[in-house]
Amino acid sequence: MSTAAPGPPLWLLCELTYRCPLHCVFCSNPTDFAAHGAELGTEAWLEVLRQARALGAVQLGLSGGEPLLRADLETLVGEAHRLGFYVNLITSGIGLDEARLLALKAAGLDHIQLSFQDSTRELNDFLSSTRTFELKSRIAALIKQADLPMVLNVVLHRLNIDHVEAILEMAERMGAEYVELANTQFYGWAWHNREHLMPTRAQVERAEAVTRRFRERQTRPMRIFYVVPDYFERRPKACMNGLGSIFLTITPDGIALPCHAARQLPGLDFPSVQAMSLREIWYASEAFGRYRGNAWMKEPCRSCPERTRDFGGCRCQAFLITGDAREADPVCELSPYHDRVLAAVARAESRAAHPAHGHISPAVPATSAVQASAATSEARPLVFRSPEASRILARR
Ligand code: SF4
Ligand code: FES
Repeated sequence: MSTAAPGPPLWLLCELTYRCPLHCVFCSNPTDFAAHGAELGTEAWLEVLRQARALGAVQLGLSGGEPLLRADLETLVGEAHRLGFYVNLITSGIGLDEARLLALKAAGLDHIQLSFQDSTRELNDFLSSTRTFELKSRIAALIKQADLPMVLNVVLHRLNIDHVEAILEMAERMGAEYVELANTQFYGWAWHNREHLMPTRAQVERAEAVTRRFRERQTRPMRIFYVVPDYFERRPKACMNGLGSIFLTITPDGIALPCHAARQLPGLDFPSVQAMSLREIWYASEAFGRYRGNAWMKEPCRSCPERTRDFGGCRCQAFLITGDAREADPVCELSPYHDRVLAAVARAESRAAHPAHGHISPAVPATSAVQASAATSEARPLVFRSPEASRILARR
């Protein structure tokens, strides 16, 4: 069993706020975000940056919610740059204009990850429940005009995965240096909406083939990251490179987590940066030590030769699907719960074959074509992220 001392938290993700103008159905924020505490102030965030850099963190992601809603974003970027972080802003683009972009660049921003929900205005606006497609397109142009490296990030699922070719062409047209085709990982709001968002195997295979062909005929260098849809795999992803090994997330209210979705893991008291130093949290807290190494593992992982490669997969997924975070990630075909993953895929296949009209109430109404493909469950409607929906889900 591994007992090696942990290395430093190389990646720091600061979720500056849970506030967001968008209402994405696959948002990775916790569904009960409205029940959490007040956002850290500027001084507290600056202290997080200083302590994390002193521990050895080098990559910084500023995300949310929508980080542009923080009026102190330029101050935080400036300090992060001064400390020597590589600073990446993860944003929907809403709240960005030319003046703010230039101010962020002058403060030392290195990189922007801009999200789109789809290559079509109709589906982009439907999935985020806002009219933002044109605005995002203008923001993409501004980012290139400011000569900042840009990743276009598009979360893929049943409703948009057939548009992969158009999405890649859009990214190429917009001058993105990178495009991330991020197949939905089922946590947060995506877990709640899994029945609607799970693609079929045929869709996944078509999207992979389209991506391969696009790579062969690309006219200019644009790196394509394809985040695999792990429910369709036989082995799990090495999620977070194992909890407590390189990733450190700080939530808007200052809770330190070994992964952005870990707050749901039971039996752990995740420490606050307002009560403990990051050094103590990283090296000495039970919350970060519990799933480090492999001493926590149950069979079949405990004696599996692949445990040093995938670390047993994703703890959050194991908990969501089996109720026990120490289980093997059920994506693994050696897991005794793998049938639950197969059953979820089978349900998607059957719903895709027999779509039925359900109940959807986004702010931006869907056309009948989108409505027909989205509305596949009479019993459980697609839920759009909002503080009201979060308050209801937090009470359950
Ligand atoms: Fe990975 Fe565990 Fe599956 Fe082995 S049994 S491949 S360690 S998830
Ligand atoms: Fe939390 Fe994988 S998302 S461990």
